[in-house]
Amino acid sequence: MTSTPAAAPANAGNAAQIEHWNGQAGETWARLQDRLDRQLEPLGLMAMDQAQIHKGWRILDIGCGTGQTSLELASRVGPEGRVSGADISRPMLAGAPKRALSPMPASPRPMRSITISGTVPSTSSSRASG
Ligand SMILES: C[S@@+](CC[C@H](N)C(=O)[O-])C[C@H]1O[C@@H](n2cnc3c(N)ncnc32)[C@H](O)[C@@H]1O
Repeated sequence: MTSTPAAAPANAGNAAQIEHWNGQAGETWARLQDRLDRQLEPLGLMAMDQAQIHKGWRILDIGCGTGQTSLELASRVGPEGRVSGADISRPMLAGAPKRALSPMPASPRPMRSITISGTVPSTSSSRASG
């Protein structure tokens, strides 16, 4: 008689990353987010320029962290577009809602189009709608 092996949990292959970003790395990144945002911003902007994002696009920002890239993407798709950010790190996501509700420095337009949520079980989620 043969038996069927039990299915692995859906996130089993990502367990190390989940542990990493929910531990010291995520806490430290969230604490230093302003400084890290400044360091990484040029790279994100280059990637977004290459993608030639249009108004009205719907974008999924996987690994949105504390939301810097999601906010920039939201300014590019405009109020008729939508940006969803997803991340596995509770500490990183904890910094995101406040930012999504804050006016963007480069644009006073309300961030109607941002949704940021966690993808790990029982993590907190947030929704910003202006
Ligand atoms: C280097 S940080 C970059 C954060 C953000 N994109 C930025 O530019 O500021 C990488 C992020 O990817 C997230 N991440 C790693 N693996 C992931 C996965 N499988 N699904 C979603 N997020 C993931 C981490 O939790 C972390 O917030």
